[in-house]
Amino acid sequence: MAMDSAGGPQRDTWGSKAAFVLAAAGSAVGLGNIWGFPTVAGQNGGAAFLAIYLLAVLLIGAPVMLAELIVGRHTQKNPVGAFKAIMPGSLWSLVGALGVLTGLVILSFYTVIAGWTLAYILKTAMGVFGPGADTAAIFAEVSGSPVSAIGWHALFAGITIAVVVKGVRDGIERWTKILMPVLFGLLVLLAIRAVTLSGAGDGLAFYLKPDFSQITGSVVLAAVGQAFFSLSLGMGAMITYGSYVSKKDDLVSSAGWVTGFDTTIAILAGLIIFPTLFHAGLEPGAGGPGMVFVVLTSLLSSIPPDPYGGIIFGTGFFVLLAIAALTSSVSLLEVCTSWGVDEKGWTRKKAAVMLGGVAFVIGVPSALANGAVGWLSNIPGVGMDFLSFMFLLFGQYSLVIGALLISLFVAWVWGVNAAGDEVRASGKGFALAGAWGFLIRFLCPLAILILLVQLVSSLF
Ligand code: TRP
Repeated sequence: MAMDSAGGPQRDTWGSKAAFVLAAAGSAVGLGNIWGFPTVAGQNGGAAFLAIYLLAVLLIGAPVMLAELIVGRHTQKNPVGAFKAIMPGSLWSLVGALGVLTGLVILSFYTVIAGWTLAYILKTAMGVFGPGADTAAIFAEVSGSPVSAIGWHALFAGITIAVVVKGVRDGIERWTKILMPVLFGLLVLLAIRAVTLSGAGDGLAFYLKPDFSQITGSVVLAAVGQAFFSLSLGMGAMITYGSYVSKKDDLVSSAGWVTGFDTTIAILAGLIIFPTLFHAGLEPGAGGPGMVFVVLTSLLSSIPPDPYGGIIFGTGFFVLLAIAALTSSVSLLEVCTSWGVDEKGWTRKKAAVMLGGVAFVIGVPSALANGAVGWLSNIPGVGMDFLSFMFLLFGQYSLVIGALLISLFVAWVWGVNAAGDEVRASGKGFALAGAWGFLIRFLCPLAILILLVQLVSSLF
């Protein structure tokens, strides 16, 4: 049933619905959940943010996820080909093109951050974070030395390319089937360790007892933006993964499982980070990009028995973060690769190596933007470093624009009835058709539009 990897007559499909759900969850669960979510939640009031985030996932994230999966399964194509198949000769394929470009740029800086996690696996395993270790200096060295930053970036990009070259059945599916359950188990263990630390109770209260007076427009904004990035929406990743779903599988429950799994992991990450932060007496809102790297490692020396507790706890955490990042970076490269295979007629290997190589090169300035090169670390006139700038443009604006256009396309151009027929094609009905139709036609585009206007106006 699998085709030849160059793109034979029959498109490769996932071996089972469970395999697809795991792979899509692997795409969604990544640095965005484990490192991004607790940081943003900490800066936006903790429990109040969590409540808004859950609403955003349910009312905006899940319907857009279903829309992307429907377009993918219906057309069996990459994002560009999918729009071409539904509206031939229209400008809508540009939305797919924007998605492919966005995937390439997100991949370029994603492998930089993910590269740091590889460096940290080595450092924690070697027991570098003993009592009195200067964790900020170690972070500065890992992220700021050009050889280290580019080297780890290259290694992570290379691993990503190798997995994607193997294709859907042999590469992505085999790996995520093993890696996702491992990741989940490790997170549960770490959460148990964290909530039993002294002082953990205050962290739990901050995270789980909402103070609704904390909710402002910017909290809502942060929650919706975080939901898109975390669920891998807005650039066609779920169109691409949906294109490999068998016609027999129910798309609604698949979208539900992926959304639920991604959200569960983010909640678990908060259960690890907040008790740990309060245990150390640190401010929950003070965390920046270095929070996981600097703060968590500063705790390692206090985990008994010394030094093995810290080594095991720390190495486990960074292995987990690297695994989560790999299944996400693979999905980013897969979007680009499926475009090269379908639209350019390249072999899978050529597409993955060339496009992964391009992403690596575009990522070099991001790798040098954390102290290695002065002007990249603080771009004149922009007021931020190159990596953060790329994240803002492609990890936020581009995804929000993409999600808006995808939901407008499905709801108003293609039509909710035609999309509903694709859901019903699996023979399991579409009980939620009315609710989904309402959300994707009205609530999602309107909410995203408001978000976009706010994002743009915050620029001035
Ligand atoms: N969702 C992943 C994370 O949380 C990142 C990611 C992978 C992504 N593929 C994507 C984000 C596609 C947006 C679009 O880390």
